[in-house]
Amino acid sequence: MSPPAGRQLPPDFAGRVVAWQRSHGRNALPWQNTRDPYRVWLSEIMLQQTQVSAVLGYYDRFLARFPDVQALAAAALDEVLALWSGLGYYSRARNLHLCAQQVVQVHGGAFPQTAAVLQTLPGIGPSTAAAISSFCFAERAAILDGNVKRVLTRVLAFGADLSAGANERALWEHARALLPTRELHEDMPRYTQGLMDLGATVCLPRNPSCLICPVQPQCVAAAQGQPEAYPVKTRKLKRSAESLWLLHAHAGDGSVWLQKRPTPGVWGGLYCLPVFGSRDALEEALPGPARHAMRDVDAFVHVLTHKDLHLHPVQAMVGADWNAGEGGWFGATEWPALGLPAPVRKFLEGVA
Ligand code: ADE
Ligand code: SF4
Repeated sequence: MSPPAGRQLPPDFAGRVVAWQRSHGRNALPWQNTRDPYRVWLSEIMLQQTQVSAVLGYYDRFLARFPDVQALAAAALDEVLALWSGLGYYSRARNLHLCAQQVVQVHGGAFPQTAAVLQTLPGIGPSTAAAISSFCFAERAAILDGNVKRVLTRVLAFGADLSAGANERALWEHARALLPTRELHEDMPRYTQGLMDLGATVCLPRNPSCLICPVQPQCVAAAQGQPEAYPVKTRKLKRSAESLWLLHAHAGDGSVWLQKRPTPGVWGGLYCLPVFGSRDALEEALPGPARHAMRDVDAFVHVLTHKDLHLHPVQAMVGADWNAGEGGWFGATEWPALGLPAPVRKFLEGVA
């Protein structure tokens, strides 16, 4: 494929990124220095929307429990969600489990080796697919996650609005045209990691460190003196807020009533305190005597991608024979091991 017209590509961009990665990139993360696609795939899914520092502990625990794709595919979803509990974006964990099952059932237990086929699996988008295939199989495939969009739009002074699909596709074309052309076995993994490292440590959203940047001599945005003008994205996320009431029904012996959340939806598949849209609705779910002894706990805010959840816990003592339909009683030693939403776990630990 020929490079997109109308823009001079910087000479040997890839070579600079590769050389810089070797000496200045991150080279000791637990998912590096392996070409095992299971380990690389797991890390890439965990690292979507999540910082490296938050992923480290989860990654080790997950691998200790599920050392290979067969072990993960054979696990109960509940256990996968329990190990994911606190990492957020739980659809990732559900897709992870589905993906492992497809790798075993459709691909004979071996991950596909090209981005084109990897992309057909649950939870693997085009950029994640390219990351896996370039890291593990040295495929000449382009990544384009949020960090890499920032680096490339700045280097190229690509000022078109990325909210429009056509412009995003044009940037994908540029990303492909910039890929290494030599020594792919060594250079492709390093180039992919180098772009990620540049975006995470040098070409930051605010105050990028252009003075120490390996591609600064080629960077048009830096020459213009306005790196922060890129990328351009006009369509802003509309944030909303919602209030939810959480019923903390307890039986006096440390046990709590938990329900499994429906899928799809917030916290789908996780165990949660019963959720209500109003305090009145919560009250109606309680038996008469318990309504007179409800205790309102301080509300707290939990921030989701598109929404601020204002959570209002209400405590009520009910008999151990109380039954709210779906769900069940979990004792003081049982609930901590379940997959719980992080704010619910924090709340329960605070009051336990
Ligand atoms: N974010 C996404 N993939 C990554 C990787 N391989 N290393 C560090 N951060 C990442
Ligand atoms: Fe980013 Fe500055 Fe490097 Fe350009 S020179 S890629 S703006 S850090």
